[in-house]
Amino acid sequence: MTDTRALAAQALADIALRGTSLRDAMERHAHKLADGRDRALLMALLSDGARWWLRFDPVLDRLMEKSLRQKEPAIHALLVLGLVQLQILQLPEYAAVAATVQATRALQRPRMAGLVNAVLRRWLRERDDLLAALDAKPQTRHAHPAWLARTLARDWPEQADAVMAADNVEPPLMLRVNRRRATRESLIERLRTDGYTAEAHAWLEDGIVLPHSTDVTRLPGFAAGEFAVQDGAAQIAADLADLRDGQRVLDACAAPGGKACHVLERADVALSALEFDARRAQRITQNLDRLGLQAHLIIGDAGQPGDWWDGKAYDRILIDAPCSATGVLRRRPDVRLHRRESDIAALAVQQQRILAALWPLLAQGGRLLYITCSMLRAENDVIVAEWLKTQPDARAVDLQLPVGQAAAVGWQILPGDGDLDGMYYAVLEKA
Ligand SMILES: C[S@@+](CC[C@H](N)C(=O)[O-])C[C@H]1O[C@@H](n2cnc3c(N)ncnc32)[C@H](O)[C@@H]1O
Repeated sequence: MTDTRALAAQALADIALRGTSLRDAMERHAHKLADGRDRALLMALLSDGARWWLRFDPVLDRLMEKSLRQKEPAIHALLVLGLVQLQILQLPEYAAVAATVQATRALQRPRMAGLVNAVLRRWLRERDDLLAALDAKPQTRHAHPAWLARTLARDWPEQADAVMAADNVEPPLMLRVNRRRATRESLIERLRTDGYTAEAHAWLEDGIVLPHSTDVTRLPGFAAGEFAVQDGAAQIAADLADLRDGQRVLDACAAPGGKACHVLERADVALSALEFDARRAQRITQNLDRLGLQAHLIIGDAGQPGDWWDGKAYDRILIDAPCSATGVLRRRPDVRLHRRESDIAALAVQQQRILAALWPLLAQGGRLLYITCSMLRAENDVIVAEWLKTQPDARAVDLQLPVGQAAAVGWQILPGDGDLDGMYYAVLEKA
C-alpha cells in the first residue's frame, strides 16, 4: 500500500487505540514509502494526529450514530486525520475530503467511502457549533486527557491554559554546541552558510536555536560530534551542577546521555553513567563516541546501589528521574495518549526510592540535582519536600532562573516558559 494517508490511518490507530509509540509506529510503517517526502508527510500526519486525537476523536461520536473505534479502527483514525487536515493543517476542503475518501480504497474498505465523505461533509456544515462545544472544555479545547487537564488546573491554576496551548505548538530545534570540538559562533556561522536560520540562545551558554526541526544528521558538524540535540531546559542541568575539574560525578538515570555528555563537555570530571535499561544504554555509548567523550558505563538500578557502587562518594549526583514526561508533550505528542493518571503514584514511588537510595552516596559538601521533565507537583516538589523533612543533613539551594517559577522546593519551568520544554529542578546540598 503506498497511499500515505491510508498508511497514516493504520499507524495512528495503532498509536491511539493499541498503545503503540509514535516512534515504533514510524519504524513499522515508514519503510513502505519509497519517497522521503511521503515519509515526512507520514510523520507530520502521525504527530498531528496524536497531538489532536483527544480533540477530534470525541466529536466523531456526535457525527456518527455508531462508533467505528472498535470495529474499524483504521477508518476511525482516518476520519480523525481528515478533521486534522481540515482544521489543523488547513488543507483546502475539497482536497482534504477527496484524499481521505480515496484512502478508504487503499485500506480495502471501498464501501466506507460514502460514510467517510458524509461524516466530513457534515463536519463542514455543522463545524461552528461543534467547535464551540469542543472549545467549552479544557480537555477538548487543548486535546489533553481529562485527568491531566484537571491536575494542571489544581497544580498550576493560573498557567494551566497557557501550558496546554504551548503543548500544541511546534517547538524550535535546539542544539548544544560541544565545547570540546567547536565554538558556538563558528557553528552558527557554518549553519548560516549552509542556509539555516540559527541564533545563539539568549542566556544558555551552549544553546543554538533553529526555528524548525530538520534532519540533524545533515547539519554541518554532526558526524564530527560538534553538537548534540538537546532542549534548552535540559541544558540548565550542567550550570546547576556547579562543576569543577577532578570531581566524581554520578548520572544515575543516564540514557540517552544528553546531560551526561554536557557535563563531560564542561569539565574534566570522572563520570559514571548508570542506566537500568541495557538497550537504552547503547544510546549513551553512541552519543559518547560521536561527541568524543568518555564515561564509566554501569547497567544497574539506581535504587539498589549495593549492586554496583564502588564505595567512593560522589561530589555531584544527577537524578534525572523516570517520570510522566508531561513536560515534553510538545515534542512527544503520543505521551498524552498513553500516560494514565494511575502512573503518577507508581512513578512517585520510584522517584522517592531512587532519591533515598542515592543520598548516602553523596560526599559532604556535595550537590545532588533532582530533575524531572514533568510538570506535576506530585513528581516534583512534593517528592523533594517530603524527603527533606526526614534529612537533617540536606539543604535545598535557592534557585532563580531566567524563566519559570519557584516551586515549594526547587524551580519549575512549565512548557512554553521561554520557549523551553517543561522541567523541574531541585538542588540539594549535603551539610
Ligand atoms: C528522563 S530519562 C534520562 C534522560 C537523560 N538523563 C538525558 O539527559 O539524556 C530517565 C532514564 O532513567 C532510566 N531509569 C529508570 N529507572 C531507573 C532506575 N531505577 N535505575 C537506573 N535508571 C533508571 C530510564 O530507563 C531512562 O533511560
